[in-house]
Amino acid sequence: MIDVAINPLRTWNQHCLDGDELATLSAQLRANDLPHCDIETSAGTFFDFRTERNEIAGYAGIEIFGPDGLLRSVLVLPAWRSEGVGGAIVEAMVEFPCEQGVQRLHLLTMRSADFFAARGFGPLPRAEAPARIAATSEFASLCPSSAVFMRRDLRAAPALRAMT
Ligand SMILES: CC(C)(COP(=O)(O)OP(=O)(O)OC[C@H]1O[C@@H](n2cnc3c(N)ncnc32)[C@H](O)[C@@H]1OP(=O)(O)O)[C@@H](O)C(=O)NCCC(=O)NCCS
Repeated sequence: MIDVAINPLRTWNQHCLDGDELATLSAQLRANDLPHCDIETSAGTFFDFRTERNEIAGYAGIEIFGPDGLLRSVLVLPAWRSEGVGGAIVEAMVEFPCEQGVQRLHLLTMRSADFFAARGFGPLPRAEAPARIAATSEFASLCPSSAVFMRRDLRAAPALRAMT
């Protein structure tokens, strides 16, 4: 019980979503005012993150285009916020593309630029987005032009992780 309170995802289950689970994710993203319209048709891979009690604490997804990845749909359910879950999800979502050969992880965010800046992402002009990232539906149509575009160089990931 104490371990769960200190680190709720200490022994988590990262589960790849399919079928009706993607519809549930879409509804959760919509309820939290995040891009959701293309979830069920996206070529991306989406996960939920469950506690050792099998409760869903959060979600995240990634679209991969060779050396470039787009991190999206990072959502911690309100009951689990401010307990380190979001940070743990980001680090898990860095491990996955690293294993796929992704070198740069990108994202767009409306409200959480400081959260991602504290986790190794730096802001960039949208014009610097690789063509495949700029062509994604999240980039091209779902996120307002005022969203902050950010990138983390995953080739620096081991050193960054060693510091944290
Ligand atoms: C942003 C979010 C994922 C953070 O998850 P979390 O589990 O609460 O974050 P953690 O507990 O790992 O980290 C908490 C730290 O991040 C900071 N933080 C949390 N949300 C933040 C936000 N929106 N903007 C800036 N900082 C934020 C907290 O102040 C805290 O800082 P501290 O460690 O210096 O005290 C979560 O608030 C969320 O799901 N928000 C709604 C959806 C969203 O905006 N997702 C991002 C889409 S791109």
